[in-house]
Amino acid sequence: MDGANHSVVSEFVFLGLSNSWEIQLVLFVFSSMFYVASMLGNSLIVLTVTSDPHLHSPMYFLLANLSFIDLGISSVITPKMIYDLFRKHKVISFGGCIAQIFFIHLIGGVEMLLLTAMAFDRYVAICKPLHYFSIMNPKLCILLQVAAWIIGLIHSVFQLVFVIKLPFCGPNVLDSFYCDLPRFIKLACIDSYRLEFMVTANSGFISLGSFFILIISYIFILITAQKHSSGGSFKALSTLSTHIMVVILFFGPCIFVYTWPHPKSHLDKFLAILDGVLTPFLNPVIYTLRNKEMKMAMRRVCSHLLVYRRIS
Ligand SMILES: *[C@@H]1O[C@H](CO)[C@@H](O)[C@H](O)[C@H]1NC(C)=O
Repeated sequence: MDGANHSVVSEFVFLGLSNSWEIQLVLFVFSSMFYVASMLGNSLIVLTVTSDPHLHSPMYFLLANLSFIDLGISSVITPKMIYDLFRKHKVISFGGCIAQIFFIHLIGGVEMLLLTAMAFDRYVAICKPLHYFSIMNPKLCILLQVAAWIIGLIHSVFQLVFVIKLPFCGPNVLDSFYCDLPRFIKLACIDSYRLEFMVTANSGFISLGSFFILIISYIFILITAQKHSSGGSFKALSTLSTHIMVVILFFGPCIFVYTWPHPKSHLDKFLAILDGVLTPFLNPVIYTLRNKEMKMAMRRVCSHLLVYRRIS
């Protein structure tokens, strides 16, 4: 050590989730299982929707795009977390840390906007069924998706611009298993109060805002569906209740992580597992297992795959 007190931090050390061997083992088994299952499930959805012309409608395209995003969500945090679980010295390079923050906010932002687009799609389908195909035309469908990516990108870059030049002069231990802004900012050698406020305002507000918009629109759709028909409303109700479940599961941890003022507690770490490991797995389960059309299409894709393998 040259003793200079402006030494540059080139890597960060994670404390991980827990020191207990048993908890680590449980985490290892469950995370690996959920990770593999969500990669398989989401890949199968993307493959099924893109290869089956019966499913070329806005709802399924949005679903396939959500699955595509979920492949990304699970891959930003989970593999590194699993790899680190039993290592004594868990480190991540400065660049790796910045990359994690960038992708978490990009993918998280896009996922929130896609969920909103899916709510809009259901709104049109249930409240304006006669105009569904003229409103949700392919152009609008693509426009919604492009908009989701652009807004997600702006959101992520906007946050990074503020933190990428932060001075780090020594402390480099993150009490977590991945890099994200609330704890990252606290390590910088500045008075981080204003930055913390910016993060809470930006990420907290976006997640809280879209959460309330989503919940309100779902309530609106439910009320409309109830008024219109009695037979259709039951089906609408069961579809919507699953959507609402996904929304709560996904947004709950986000809102907590960004608006909870005391990152000293360990609760946010375990909640982050929900978003990183569990939601990407649950989305395909929730959206497809209750959908007959999707299940049949998946069966077709699987049998095709098997036939191809037998031929080659
Ligand atoms: C996303 O949706 C578009 C249509 O809007 C579709 O063409 C594309 O295949 C979808 N992407 C994936 C990965 O399924």
